[in-house]
Amino acid sequence: MEFPTDPNLIVGMDNVDDAGVYKITDDIAIIQTVDFFTPIVDDPYWFGQIAAANALSDVYAMGGIPKTAMNIVAFPIKEMDISILRKIIQGGLDKMKEADVVLVGGHSVEDKELKYGLSVTGFIHPDRILTKKNLKIGDRLILTKPLGTGIINTAIKGGLASREAIEFVTRLMATLNRDAAQVMEGFPVHACTDITGFGLIGHVAEMVVDSDFGIGLWSEKIPIIPEAFDYAAMGLVPAGAYKNREFREGMVDISPSVKQAVLDILYDPQTSGGLLICVESESAGDLVNELKKKGIDDAAIIGEVLSKPKGKIVVNP
Ligand code: CO
Ligand code: CO
Ligand code: CO
Repeated sequence: MEFPTDPNLIVGMDNVDDAGVYKITDDIAIIQTVDFFTPIVDDPYWFGQIAAANALSDVYAMGGIPKTAMNIVAFPIKEMDISILRKIIQGGLDKMKEADVVLVGGHSVEDKELKYGLSVTGFIHPDRILTKKNLKIGDRLILTKPLGTGIINTAIKGGLASREAIEFVTRLMATLNRDAAQVMEGFPVHACTDITGFGLIGHVAEMVVDSDFGIGLWSEKIPIIPEAFDYAAMGLVPAGAYKNREFREGMVDISPSVKQAVLDILYDPQTSGGLLICVESESAGDLVNELKKKGIDDAAIIGEVLSKPKGKIVVNP
């Protein structure tokens, strides 16, 4: 497919990233992104917060500041009480308020299946855009939220998740990546993305594909929601995790001592996951310490950029 081009389009369809970026002047560019999905938790107010946090995240992942948003709503008005929609939108609004983002409009349609999300516009300096490229050999990778939300959500749907796991994962998904993005601003960060539907390995693969470096992951260092191990071992693995594996397994070398449940979690699709930050190795420890000071307790160095195997991911114990 051929897409229209424009000299001011810095990140567009040719180099798909977390969001599109269009330069307005030498000092300012706009970031645009859209995300919406069906409910992943039962509580409508929390679902609204999670959908908003997830949509805003792509702006943070590019190093930008979200400014305006529009609601996207699909609602089964004949079968569902309108008060549910009000709660969803209130959740979204409260999250936007927390993020200092103003709602400027939106659009709703009648649909058999409820869906909610945002289209978001943010600002960034054109020289400071973080994409999935520009990684340097020796860099360290930092993940800011634990993995396993897809597996926990599968357990929730099956009525098997514990109350603690539900509460933890709900708050985790509703947490903005804003603080993490603010902290990384002061560090020599080369690349960044957020972990969502393709899972950790899928998003790492986007960084490494067609590159002249490899990425090593240290699986024991990767933050994981404790219950996700138990549920993965029970087979509560979402279909998306198998799709993610099928798509990328040719790029992945796995050490035989890595457990199957861990691998399932590395491919597990995340909702509103954390930032994956690629930073100069000498600064990685300080960056993690600063993230922890900001309350991002699970932040951890989870791997490194290697000179080989080129274009591959190596999963170590
Ligand atoms: Co993203
Ligand atoms: Co997105
Ligand atoms: Co990015």
